[in-house]
Amino acid sequence: MLRPVLIRLSQESRLRTLASHNPVLRSMARRFVAGETLEEAIDVVRATNARDMTVTLDHLGENVQTAAQARAAAEDYCGMLAEITRAGVTSNVSLKLTQLGLDLGDDVAYENLRRVVDVAAQDDNFVRIDMENSEYVDRTLAIFYRLFETHRNLGVVIQSYLYRSEADVARLIEAGARVRLVKGAYLEPATVAYQDKADVDRNFVVLMEMLLARGNYPAIATHDPAMIDATRNFAAQQGIEASRYEFQMLYGIRRDLQTELVRAGYNVRIYVPFGTEWYPYLMRRMAERPANLMFVLGNVAREALPSR
Ligand code: FDA
Repeated sequence: MLRPVLIRLSQESRLRTLASHNPVLRSMARRFVAGETLEEAIDVVRATNARDMTVTLDHLGENVQTAAQARAAAEDYCGMLAEITRAGVTSNVSLKLTQLGLDLGDDVAYENLRRVVDVAAQDDNFVRIDMENSEYVDRTLAIFYRLFETHRNLGVVIQSYLYRSEADVARLIEAGARVRLVKGAYLEPATVAYQDKADVDRNFVVLMEMLLARGNYPAIATHDPAMIDATRNFAAQQGIEASRYEFQMLYGIRRDLQTELVRAGYNVRIYVPFGTEWYPYLMRRMAERPANLMFVLGNVAREALPSR
């Protein structure tokens, strides 16, 4: 099985440094990453808005090691929010709490997050906390609830591969929180997560139905046509208007499906990552679809062969 190998490789910090200097991998990352600078990312946001889609911008980075790095990441997000407003584009932001210092303590991450969410609130913008591996879920949700008491422009992510997610979704619905539903991108043991795709998908449908029926503008984030059809069918059966939820997809994946949904009248938001810290993100995307790895390896081989 390639998936566990690729996910493990995504966590190797030595490989992270090596990969980021490899020109071939770097050019391959461009399929999934909007560029290394904010300027390049804003160009992609503008182009995506022109396709009638909104965006969530992610400045790549996770598991920072020092308080200074965590503070700098929060400052970067404040700058991004200012630039989104200045450029007049339609985008919110997504971030990871380990990027804001969760490994250094809950209060470090909380204070940094509060700064970003405050700045977003000034411009009537929104911040989504991505969900990382299962060891972080309790602390991520605790920080979310703590800040959500005073800041409503904050949302979170729930992963359908976790057994606990049904209870988490019920509580988030009760609180009126905005939830992005995903299948989950990390390697999790059978003690906490479904291992078979069929079970992950079945739970995705259960959670989607809860969120569509009673949630606050949920985001159904998937490229899986079966999950998208299930959502459209459930909404149609229940008379839930398309304006009450949105679909989300990742930059560079299933552009055809993105366009098809917009044409059919659905709200679609594209998750657009940018920055130099693309290695773990790229490896998770490869793990989801090993064909991507073959594509990358094919290109690496072509580059390595002497030209004739
Ligand atoms: P699934 O993996 O079953 O794939 C269905 C089909 O989609 C595939 O057959 C293929 O056609 C296409 N596809 C999927 N992945 C592809 C890829 N990498 N390259 C090319 N085609 C691909 N996870 C997490 O743990 N925490 C988070 O915060 C987020 N956030 C997030 C935001 C958004 C907007 C999206 C769309 C996804 C996430 N994820 C995430 C990732 C998520 O958990 C999941 O790993 C991926 O979305 C892949 O799962 P699918 O639902 O697409 O289905």
